[in-house]
Formats: sequence, C-alpha cells, structure tokens
Amino acid sequence: MTTDRRKVVLIGTGMVGMSFAYSLVNQGGICNELVLIDVNTVRANGEAMDLNHGLAFAKSNMKIYAGEYKDCKDADIVVIAAGVAQKEGETRLDLLKRNVEVFRSIVTPVVRSGFDGIFLVATNPVDIMTRVTYELSRFGASRVIGTGTSLDTARLRYLLGDYFTVDPKNIHAYVIGEHGDSEFVPLSQVMMATKPVMKILEDERNSYCIDDMQSIEEQVRTAAYKIIEAKRATYYGIGMALTRIVKAILGDENSVLTVSAKLCGEYGYRDVFIGVPSIIGRNGVKEIIELDLNEEEKEKFKSSVNVLNEHFDPLEL
Ligand code: 2OP
Repeated sequence: MTTDRRKVVLIGTGMVGMSFAYSLVNQGGICNELVLIDVNTVRANGEAMDLNHGLAFAKSNMKIYAGEYKDCKDADIVVIAAGVAQKEGETRLDLLKRNVEVFRSIVTPVVRSGFDGIFLVATNPVDIMTRVTYELSRFGASRVIGTGTSLDTARLRYLLGDYFTVDPKNIHAYVIGEHGDSEFVPLSQVMMATKPVMKILEDERNSYCIDDMQSIEEQVRTAAYKIIEAKRATYYGIGMALTRIVKAILGDENSVLTVSAKLCGEYGYRDVFIGVPSIIGRNGVKEIIELDLNEEEKEKFKSSVNVLNEHFDPLEL
C-alpha cells in the first residue's frame, strides 16, 4: 500500500451518488480509488464501466470498480447516498422511516468490514440519517459527518452574489440548522468581504432592502421543492457538495463547511446532529464554530434543534 492512496467507497449509485462520483472523477486528484456499492449490483457494475470509459478524458487517473462491503475495510471515506428520495409533495422528514430501514442494512456491514475511516452521509433527512449512522456505527462523533446545510449555503451565496453583483466567494454567509424546512440564515452574520450586510442595507437604502434578504432566504429554503417539481429530483448540487467535503477531508484542508455535525455543548445543545459551520480536515470535524447569534436567531436555532430531536427515536434503531 502506497502512503498517498486515497480510497473512497460510495454506497448508493442513484442520481445523487453518481453525480458525486462524476464530479469526483472530473475534478481529479482528490482520490485515486473509488468503489461503487449498490443493492443493484448490475447497476453498480454498469456505472463503474461508464465512468471508466470516461477516464481517458479526466484530469488524473483513478481506479474505479463495483465492489462489496469488504472493500470498505481500508477505505478513507464511506459516502452513503443510498435510500429513497423525496417526491413531489413530500418533505425530507417524510423519508425517515424508509431510510432508517435502508441504513440498518448498510452501516453494520460497513463497520463489520473493519472500516476505520470517516462516514459521510447525504441521504435525507440528512441530519437524522447522520445521527442514525453515528448510533449504529458507534464511531467517534468527529468521524460521522452529514452534508447538512452545505448545499443550502452554496445556494445562499449564489443568490446573494447575484443580488449584490459580487463573486459568491466573497460573500461570507451560512445557512444553519436542519437541512429542511426549519433551516435559516443568521443575517447578523452575513458579510460581504468583511462588511456586515446589515450595514450595507442601512448605508445603501436606495439600492438594497431587508425584504429582499427574506425573499432570498425563502428561495434557498424552497429550492429543492422547486427543482423536484421541475425535474423530479436534485442531484448535481448535492453531488458537488459531497465532492467538496471529501476534498476537504482528504486534503486535510481545515476548511469551514456547514456540515451536519454532532453538537457537544456548542450553541447550548448536545447529541443532536445539525448543520453548523465546522472546520473539516483529515480526521473529520475538527471544531464546530459557534456563531454569535442574536436572540431571534437563537430562537430559530432552537426550533430547528427541536424538530430534529422530535423526529429522532433511538428506540427505533
Ligand atoms: C436538496 O436540497 C433534496 O436535499 C436535497 O437538493
């Protein structure tokens, strides 16, 4: 085994999983071994063939194959994107029961393989499914991560960048809380470069207004519903969010991403997995950053924690 071998196992080769795999191959250099696992082994084989045929056009080489749970043994990251997806008229929370069943059949065999890396979960409702993975695996909390509000944060920055006509990379803003209907934007913490957006709204009343901020927050919250209505599912955005998190882990970047992480007293809560800005490096979640929320934002965060706690039932595991 060479020391720079970076191995990722993807469980679930549906649209989300394969959008992740496709962006991983195209971005190149993030890992050099990718294993695809699916209950539908024929599909996993077909997806591996298809990706392999594109390798000649990719930036760097990669070993890609359809595998089995035993292949998780020496993996650095196991990405779980398996389970049922939201249909029109469903919320992410409606998927819970069905996806807990699916996870029971996944997490235990992965752990039994001897896997000793990091779990990264994308399946919805992602905060609860990440907590389910934590409970079933009994891994340390820093090694169980969900995509959380990383995609919502990207959606927010894209919309704010468009509104202020500024590169989204220079907008510092987070969506926090449940990846779902109770998520919110702590507006007091939104900055353009280092200038608070609340101050910009005050200084430039003729150009910008707070109502537009609320409309942008609403567009972020309802984005997935709109996409599902239009094309039945969302997958490119979440696939790229997964790639970003995998890159931060394998590159030991210590990047701040709004993943679903376990609170251990941060924000005044324990045990719940929820979307919060976290420093992500080679060992997973290195630190959770506690934003300086105002009273109204603290109340919104509390509501989100309550939604997630109400839907998590340890007895069902
Ligand atoms: C998304 O936000 C449905 O959770 C998925 O795109």
